[in-house]
Amino acid sequence: MDTSVSNEDFLATVATKSNGAALRGDYEHMDAHYVVQQDWDAYTEAEHELWRKLYQRQLALLPGRACQEFIDALEKMDAADGIPVFEKTSKELFAATGWTIVAVPGLIPELTFFDHLANRRFPVTVWLRKPEEFNYIVEPDVFHDFFGHVPLLFNPVFADYIQRYGQGGLKAMKLGGLDELARLYWYTVEFGLINTAEGVRIYGAGILSSGGEVEYCLTPGTKSRHIRLDIERCLRTLYKIDSYQETYFVIDSFQQLFDGTAPDFTPLYEKLKTMDVLPANTLLPGEVELLPAPH
Ligand SMILES: [Fe+2]
Repeated sequence: MDTSVSNEDFLATVATKSNGAALRGDYEHMDAHYVVQQDWDAYTEAEHELWRKLYQRQLALLPGRACQEFIDALEKMDAADGIPVFEKTSKELFAATGWTIVAVPGLIPELTFFDHLANRRFPVTVWLRKPEEFNYIVEPDVFHDFFGHVPLLFNPVFADYIQRYGQGGLKAMKLGGLDELARLYWYTVEFGLINTAEGVRIYGAGILSSGGEVEYCLTPGTKSRHIRLDIERCLRTLYKIDSYQETYFVIDSFQQLFDGTAPDFTPLYEKLKTMDVLPANTLLPGEVELLPAPH
């Protein structure tokens, strides 16, 4: 399968979707799969210092909130001292789960993204946010991609799930199910919560790399809901890209994600075409809120 997407086509699509806004990365020096070299020597001391501040802020928030698999893997990755050398972590990751990290200029086309995941390659953006973006950034940067996503790729079951997601993405492109499948990634890989013996914990990278949402998403009494993950329900549910999530789907195990994505989604996409999408704050009859919340 040809998985190359021309840079001109991609940037034109981005410009159309975002009212002419340009992506931040350097898309001049990359291969056909949007892979670049991580020019580690080009990072400045100020950037390493900013990384350390981001890292320490997040690290302090993790105990009792992030799932233990994330905390343990992060500790072993030894990434506290500055922007990591991707190649070093990539080798360790390959030894653990057969995944590698590939450096990319920033957002990449869906086809290219899915192809990387399906081949156990995780794309990590090379550039770091600016100091004024310490608390919030629109496009994913190296801190979000590396700190948020890479640790759980050391977990064999979760790593298999992400690969299966990539394979599913390639299929969804042909079946017209991309919007639906993207909601699954959003509500699991980016904003997922997991039940553990110690209580509900975070595994989603979008939360774990956020200064505010780590605490917010576990706080009772906000306008956000915790609901048990049901894949069909999740694929119908719209999400927020410019605020904290209004619904967090809770899983019982990573195995649940892997098993839940084993079936062919073709009939599901067909069925969903006959159903309404659900607003982000929906509570359907019979659904149980797992976190007390006044609405
Ligand atoms: Fe992400």
